[in-house]
Amino acid sequence: MKIGIVGATGLVGQKLLTLLENSLLPIDELRLIASQRSLGKKLPYRGKEVDVIPLSDRVFASLNLVFFMATKDVAKKYAPLAIKNNCVVIDNSSYFRLNPEVPLIVPEVNIASIKNEHALIANPNCSTIQLVVCLNALAKINPIKRVEVATYQAVSGAGRKAIEELKSKIRDYNNKIVFNAVPHIDDFDKSGYTKEELKVIFETQKILNQEFPISCTAVRIPVINGHSESISITFENEVNILSVHQIFKNSENIIVIDDIENNKYPLVEDCQGRQEVFVGRIRKDFSNPNILHLWCVADNLVKGAAANALQIAEKCFKQKIFGW
Ligand SMILES: NC(=O)c1ccc[n+]([C@@H]2O[C@H](COP(=O)([O-])OP(=O)(O)OC[C@H]3O[C@@H](n4cnc5c(N)ncnc54)[C@H](OP(=O)(O)O)[C@@H]3O)[C@@H](O)[C@H]2O)c1
Repeated sequence: MKIGIVGATGLVGQKLLTLLENSLLPIDELRLIASQRSLGKKLPYRGKEVDVIPLSDRVFASLNLVFFMATKDVAKKYAPLAIKNNCVVIDNSSYFRLNPEVPLIVPEVNIASIKNEHALIANPNCSTIQLVVCLNALAKINPIKRVEVATYQAVSGAGRKAIEELKSKIRDYNNKIVFNAVPHIDDFDKSGYTKEELKVIFETQKILNQEFPISCTAVRIPVINGHSESISITFENEVNILSVHQIFKNSENIIVIDDIENNKYPLVEDCQGRQEVFVGRIRKDFSNPNILHLWCVADNLVKGAAANALQIAEKCFKQKIFGW
């Protein structure tokens, strides 16, 4: 296969590059693409230094698959050009996610939505991915009526510059993100929600193909990497904690850390570099036996972005969906 990564120099692009080293995809050529700013850069891949080339109309020729790991403006302009060059595109930006023609995929949940005629596949928002992995497992044992989620999101979710800024401002008490929890990720919508919160709500409903009400409060916290979520789910029937533990233990890519006697619950340090979603603090609501509360942690750059995109490509390859 001939594969391109647009945004190869970014946080998600570099994570993908690392994951591709051990991928089952038969890679003959890897084209690393970024902006003009990265002209002259080289990135390590399988023991070699690969040149980064600037994005242009011509970079897609002869590629089979292009991962777009850049901004939504880049995806909007260049994904159609890649498709014109017969490439399949997996886009990590928010630009195409809610387009009804575009499958929005978490492989554990809805890989079957990808058909041979789909030239473009959207990778969901990082906070959405870890949420739907949990909800999809739970919906198998008890129909979901309502979800409430509060996210505690790392600065790496805002890209490479955000990490540099946090590190450089760590002693600047006036900087908003230092020693603070900021309930503001992406722009505000006129509804009073932020766009990040709306992504979690509408993407979750699209992926699970269900319209149960969801509410979300998304908060940026001064953690370098790893998103945490407090999730409350109202079910149609009474919650059985034992069945919840069992379904999580039997689910692909979910790890339970829930041993309160020994103060064990998922922390961002558990998820670094991991493709699994970690859950813990599993408990029933005091006043309503149909409500479950839990804590969920995942690496936003890995399962929340690069690994999910790669899993999509690998499943398509294994199932020969695009004839690669
Ligand atoms: N970070 C996360 O946890 C996460 C999770 C899910 C989804 N996403 C989404 O994934 C995408 C990448 O995020 P990131 O965190 O990796 O961002 P990042 O660290 O800021 O990297 C952005 C990448 O896009 C490239 N780029 C920017 N403008 C470009 C242009 N005009 N032409 C070509 N390349 C351009 C940059 O190239 P240069 O180095 O040359 O500037 C860089 O490689 C975004 O759409 C983001 O919303 C991120």
